[in-house]
Amino acid sequence: MRLLVLPGDGIGPEIVGEAVRLARWFSADLGFDLEITEGLVGGASIEAHGAPITDAVVEQALAADAVLFGAVGGPRWDHLERPARPEAGILRLRQTLDLFANLRPAVCYGELAGASALKPDLIEDLDILIIREATAGVYFGLPRGIETGPDGARRAYDTQSYTEAEIARICHVAFATARTRSGRVCSVDKANVMETGALWRAVATEIGAQYPDVALSHMFADNCAMQLVSRPKQFDVIVTDNLFGDILSDAAAALSGSLGLLPSASLSAPLANGRRRALYEPIHGSAPDIAGRGMANPIATLLSFGLCLRHSMDRPEAADRLQQAVRTVLAEGIRTPDIAVDGPSVSSAALTDAVLRQLENPSSPVETKARR
Ligand code: IPM
Ligand code: MG
Repeated sequence: MRLLVLPGDGIGPEIVGEAVRLARWFSADLGFDLEITEGLVGGASIEAHGAPITDAVVEQALAADAVLFGAVGGPRWDHLERPARPEAGILRLRQTLDLFANLRPAVCYGELAGASALKPDLIEDLDILIIREATAGVYFGLPRGIETGPDGARRAYDTQSYTEAEIARICHVAFATARTRSGRVCSVDKANVMETGALWRAVATEIGAQYPDVALSHMFADNCAMQLVSRPKQFDVIVTDNLFGDILSDAAAALSGSLGLLPSASLSAPLANGRRRALYEPIHGSAPDIAGRGMANPIATLLSFGLCLRHSMDRPEAADRLQQAVRTVLAEGIRTPDIAVDGPSVSSAALTDAVLRQLENPSSPVETKARR
């Protein structure tokens, strides 16, 4: 297993450090060779090389079996032009590695229902999966720019574009994934306003016909935003485009109680050797305000390695064990400050220690409804 580790900025190095400890534990436990290379990305790369990612790191990512990514960005680089900003590093990785399938689970562990801003009964045991298209749409569409007209007034424009093939392949991922869950897909678009939305809906319907055992529904993106914060448990798999997926996945994340809990996987289509390129990252950002204090919640990054076990290493049972260990640790009341509400809290390292202890020596399993 060749793992490229890109810690990035802010709390990135701390949480990735915890996930590396976990990866080494699994490597010993399951008996696989783990070769870890580390690289710079984001602000860290800007400081060292003047660019948010170098060609050499992109090459390393192409050669790796999987990439474990921390977080990028911080106030120090906010003034830079877009292509020079830390965020450009992750966007280039998504595009070059063709990581079109961005899986963003939003799960609410019963023990933490009180930490969410929503009423506990609305979100208790919530388990939804947002599948976001991540290599096309308005993020990458051309032309784009800001131009100054003859009258000196500026005009900005972006292009939202989707080909049939780009929509079809993300829909296939959604339907195939739904088969392993409750068999329902909600496709989200703005077919009432946008051409890309009309094509999205038509293609989703066509692909859906190839999966008669999966129930397909459609929803407009604005309505979906409202439904997510009023009746979130109606959803199982949501499939949507790059921009809507960005926005809706942040909303879904808030349901779980803390951004610090949610992992994500970004996958390519299968290569000639049958493997998919893959990048795993917590969905939260670099949190510069708490960086360097050892108090960041490592769970999202630990579970991101869990998704790596599941999707890149074909070790779903190990991923389940990890998820169970995290649940037990939460049920025991061990918390980092972001989820401690008013109770006592522990450091990132202590929380990881507790998870490793659970893996080493599982105590009474907590009832789990998790299916991933
Ligand atoms: C995300 C982030 C990124 C995005 C940024 C950092 C470019 O918000 O992964 O959701 O907009 O895709
Ligand atoms: Mg986002």
